[in-house]
Amino acid sequence: MSEKPKGLDNGLTNYGDRDFARYLRRSFAKSMGYTDASLDKPIVGICTTESGFNNCHRHFPEMLEAVKRGVLAAGALPVPFPVISLGEVFLSPTSLVYRNLMAMAVEEMIRAQPMDSVVLMGGCDKTVPALLMGAASAGKPASLVVAGPMMTGRHRGERLGACTDCRRFWANYRAGTVDDEEINQVEGRLAVTAGTCAVMGTASTMALIGETLGMMLPGTAAIPAVHADRLRAAEETGALAAKMATTGGPTPDKLITRESVENALRVLLAVSGSTNAVIHLAAIAGRLGIDIDLERFNALSDETPVLVDLKPVGSGYMEDFHTAGGLDGVLRGIAGKLNAGCADVTGLTMEDRLARPLADPIDASFIRTADSPVNPVGGLIALTGTLAPEGAILKRAAATPGLLEHEGRAVVFSSLEDLANRIDDPDLDVTADDILVLQNAGPRSASGMPEAGYLPIPKKLARQGVKDMVRISDARMSGTAFGTIVLHVTPEADVGGPLALVRDGDRIRLSASRKSIDLLVDPAELATRKPAIAAGDKPADRGYAKLYRDSVLPATLGCDFDFLRHS
Ligand code: FES
Repeated sequence: MSEKPKGLDNGLTNYGDRDFARYLRRSFAKSMGYTDASLDKPIVGICTTESGFNNCHRHFPEMLEAVKRGVLAAGALPVPFPVISLGEVFLSPTSLVYRNLMAMAVEEMIRAQPMDSVVLMGGCDKTVPALLMGAASAGKPASLVVAGPMMTGRHRGERLGACTDCRRFWANYRAGTVDDEEINQVEGRLAVTAGTCAVMGTASTMALIGETLGMMLPGTAAIPAVHADRLRAAEETGALAAKMATTGGPTPDKLITRESVENALRVLLAVSGSTNAVIHLAAIAGRLGIDIDLERFNALSDETPVLVDLKPVGSGYMEDFHTAGGLDGVLRGIAGKLNAGCADVTGLTMEDRLARPLADPIDASFIRTADSPVNPVGGLIALTGTLAPEGAILKRAAATPGLLEHEGRAVVFSSLEDLANRIDDPDLDVTADDILVLQNAGPRSASGMPEAGYLPIPKKLARQGVKDMVRISDARMSGTAFGTIVLHVTPEADVGGPLALVRDGDRIRLSASRKSIDLLVDPAELATRKPAIAAGDKPADRGYAKLYRDSVLPATLGCDFDFLRHS
């Protein structure tokens, strides 16, 4: 049996003459000045996501040099290649819509190009999920290195971090307690360095999940973007990838298993991470045929304490988390609950990792012990009921405790446009006890499941001091946001789910203790109603938008494309 091709001989272009294809490829490679000695080495592809539209990856040129240094020093040839990048705030309608496009580019470029292993460089919210989804499907040895979080800024004596403080100041601006001059000052002080958002938002949550899944060097997820250790992590990742190129493993399917996915869910709950991570983890796991069962998720949530005191729920920032002990601190707090046999890219098992002595004590002001948790139960729960028969998500850790058991009158907006037009109308019939409902903002909607689940408090209530209300939608919420917010309602309104049938004045009951969300309307009455339509929405009829609408799966299946999940 002939040996599997290695290095530049991987996946030769098919001209019907293998030797000619090899000769041609080497000839063009030599146009870049490579010697035979370089071209005969194992090849490490470096999938980079630098872009002028991605502020979070501003430092990737420097990180890339560090990865290359590590690869070269370990005896392999580093070959960087671009894929599309997703800068969270620069994409319309949403970055989530393009996550699957990026994942397809990652998968196909890893598979199509001649590399023996790959380093995945990402950070901003959707980039890490897209990289892991693509790499999981491509099946080559892969290791992830992330951008790392931003440092905080300063404003009038307080620390500011994107983007929880963005929302806090904006809410105060809407309420009239911050003026135009101050909001302009704050605008320049929220995001002050390279790196991902400074709180436990989606990017930081996904970085920790990537490390927990075993796809990253241990201890590197939370190193700040501007810290020298970030460059050392990049160099070491390059060296590791060179070794993986030679040994041929581990491939993602050896690391992302049912057990490591469960460990990742535990970490998500213990850090009170982003609700978006539930979608992304479902999509990553789904690439390898692993389902996330919502009942199991709730069982894990009820027995996994919140250990981390960080914004958007608590008080610290990611730089505090890193110096307090990072992921190791969290893993130790839930050690007895973790699947100990799961391994990482270096071959270290969870059991080995937990047994290693730590260089510094864990700082309990930001990472608590299991005996003294921030909260004895996990940060997120799944809800089901007549309003969401297939599930919805609530970040209970970010909710107002008094609203976790609440029944109220629905005030309904049929689309984002309707919301924008009426939410601040002084004549809007709304009180603080009502429940705000947004329809047609789910995965298949024209708005592309935006982070609009954090519906603004109507201005007239905000000015009376109302800070939170129960808000329900099929949309998502930024990982940096907070409030009593029910998200990802499935089936979504666009496919005619019960959410589409809610009308002003209907009663809705939320019970976090029963993990339920119910529309208290007689089914016979509901049967007479027609689903609310988002006015002005025209279904896409061409290009990627059409592919997306035709193929996107519900939030419970990670919003992946139906033809990309492992069958
Ligand atoms: Fe990139 Fe928040 S904008 S992580």
